[in-house]
Amino acid sequence: MAELSLRRTRLSTATRELTRQIRLSSGQFIQPLFVVQGISEREAIPSLKDTWRDTSLSLLKQIDKDMNEGIKKFLLFGVPAKKNETEFDHQFIVDRICDIKNEFGKDIWLAVDVCLCSNTTHGHCGILNETGDTILNGPSVSALSSAAELYASAGADCVAPSDMMDGRIAAIRDALNLSQNEKTLIMSYSAKFDSGFYGPFRIAADSTPDNEILLNGRSSYQIDPGRPNDALLSAMRDADEGADILMVKPGMPYLDILKTLSSKIPLPWAIYQTSGESAGIELTSKYNLGNRQRLYVETWTSMLRAGANMIISYAARSAPKWLNH
Ligand code: PBG
Ligand code: ZN
Repeated sequence: MAELSLRRTRLSTATRELTRQIRLSSGQFIQPLFVVQGISEREAIPSLKDTWRDTSLSLLKQIDKDMNEGIKKFLLFGVPAKKNETEFDHQFIVDRICDIKNEFGKDIWLAVDVCLCSNTTHGHCGILNETGDTILNGPSVSALSSAAELYASAGADCVAPSDMMDGRIAAIRDALNLSQNEKTLIMSYSAKFDSGFYGPFRIAADSTPDNEILLNGRSSYQIDPGRPNDALLSAMRDADEGADILMVKPGMPYLDILKTLSSKIPLPWAIYQTSGESAGIELTSKYNLGNRQRLYVETWTSMLRAGANMIISYAARSAPKWLNH
């Protein structure tokens, strides 16, 4: 006689549903958006399905479609046409925030990424010194906090600094409070690692850092993958400086970090399923080596298991049709 013990609850859809501990819902998702100045038609992003470099107009159409399909939370990346060294012009992105808020008002939740890598001539996330071998912390932090203030004043619900300079959360919180933007949230990319999983994003955001040799990519400001303690220190510091939401990025290779950090710091936690992770899933399904929906849902489940409250994913806009049936 066969003995069923743990298998008994796995035998029917009913008991699998009833016993499930982790439940995904489309309300937990944030969809990244790219809006690019100076292009006349929206452009595809290599390897990322259903994700575009939008024009100002196609951006609004896409958001309208997403809102109708049940995705109402977004993370916006603005890509200005003109690159600079120290003085940055944020008007393009400010205008896009105003457009979005005029059109969708309180129905939308709009987070805006705050960084300099789409603005600088060299693609680094901060201001470079004269000799080109150091990213200057102080000047970078002031440039970042003025950008954050402009985005908040234009109506962003949340600003999300992704640069990894020291002390930027305190500076941004101060700037927001002084400009009557005390309700604006800060979602900090606290545990952001120096990762190889950012490839398609850098094409989309026009932010590939040059002089790789002099600076070794972004390793002088993003966290070394072999230094998990830095992720904890960085998240504790950001919590202390006034961040409202903390983040781990990339997602899948850093679930251990999320598990540890979310058990130690009781703030809300976001996880970012990066462009390179997404590309892995897209290519696997493109070659019929796995099912796209299944791969996303399984990886998202792992993120909730590790302690995420919200997930930033390029496939967020598919979540309503995959999860709500
Ligand atoms: C840049 C930034 C990056 C991402 C968000 N903001 C990449 C980087 O640091 O080069 C990653 C997004 C992704 O790969 O999906 N500040
Ligand atoms: Zn950057």
